[in-house]
Amino acid sequence: MALANLPTPLTFAPRLSEELGSSIWLKRDDLTGVGLGGNKARAVEFHMGACREAGADVFVTGGGPRSNWVLAAAAAAAARGIDCELVLFGDRPPAGTSGVDLLDRVDNLRIHFTGSPVRASVDPLLDRVEACLREEGRRPYVVGRGGAGPVGALGYVAAVDEIDDQAQGAGVRFEAMWLAAGSCGTMAGLVAGYRRRTGGPRVVGAAVHRPVEECQRRIEDISEASLDILEVAHRYPVRWQVTDHLDPDPLEVDAAARLMASTEGVFLDPEYGSCALADLIRQAGEVRGPVLFLVTGGTLNLFHGSSAA
Ligand SMILES: Cc1ncc(COP(=O)(O)O)c(C=O)c1O
Repeated sequence: MALANLPTPLTFAPRLSEELGSSIWLKRDDLTGVGLGGNKARAVEFHMGACREAGADVFVTGGGPRSNWVLAAAAAAAARGIDCELVLFGDRPPAGTSGVDLLDRVDNLRIHFTGSPVRASVDPLLDRVEACLREEGRRPYVVGRGGAGPVGALGYVAAVDEIDDQAQGAGVRFEAMWLAAGSCGTMAGLVAGYRRRTGGPRVVGAAVHRPVEECQRRIEDISEASLDILEVAHRYPVRWQVTDHLDPDPLEVDAAARLMASTEGVFLDPEYGSCALADLIRQAGEVRGPVLFLVTGGTLNLFHGSSAA
């Protein structure tokens, strides 16, 4: 049985469209339903399959204490009945301030804190956790921070087919698509998905965690590697770009969140979704056709501000 509730709705956003003077549609991937939903459900689905195929007995990954990804990973591992080890950056947050309270409810889950506020501190500890598990005779399946990589990206390669079917059914052809890019796995999957066909939309990612050049490299590498897995021989050119949101204007981000909430009753998190919408608002005047805005979820961030994920 599938973990994620798919297809997620594709809905026209009439009041937001009127405000922005463009035709805006929402792809509601906040409603995927694994953990608290969000984009990572699509990645974790493929990782869980690969984990089972590898004959692994423990799912190992990492991220931030409010991360969409670690919550999805913990929930998916629980649903599949497999042990899970998570590496989170920072120190254990006080009770009631993060998703760690939810993770603590899951049996067969062990959490390791790096003790450093730096996101990248997850990587060496992940290696150490993997080595310890192997010494204990376990068979770990290890996924890097955020679940980004060619296997996870397959979730959004498949999402392109889903979006195309829905768009055809609704009689709409998207000129552009907007989303937030963190570890870039989501955007890489979309780019890869559109490389399998001609005439896809321009894909625009608001880079919220990494410099634009790093995102560009990651998107290029991950999307190509995921098409290699699928043995896609012919790859069409795709128009895609990454915009810099490493240091966003908090007023613009807040205004974007308020606009979405007031016009469509959809709540965007401050770290990802609101930044992506702020980027779209800035550029809406230059877009000529319908736009798809990917709502990526991030429920834990809604309640805890933007300082971690
Ligand atoms: C709510 C939300 N939106 C978007 C993203 C970005 O996805 P990706 O890391 O695949 O770029 C994340 C990543 O954690 C997220 O939590």
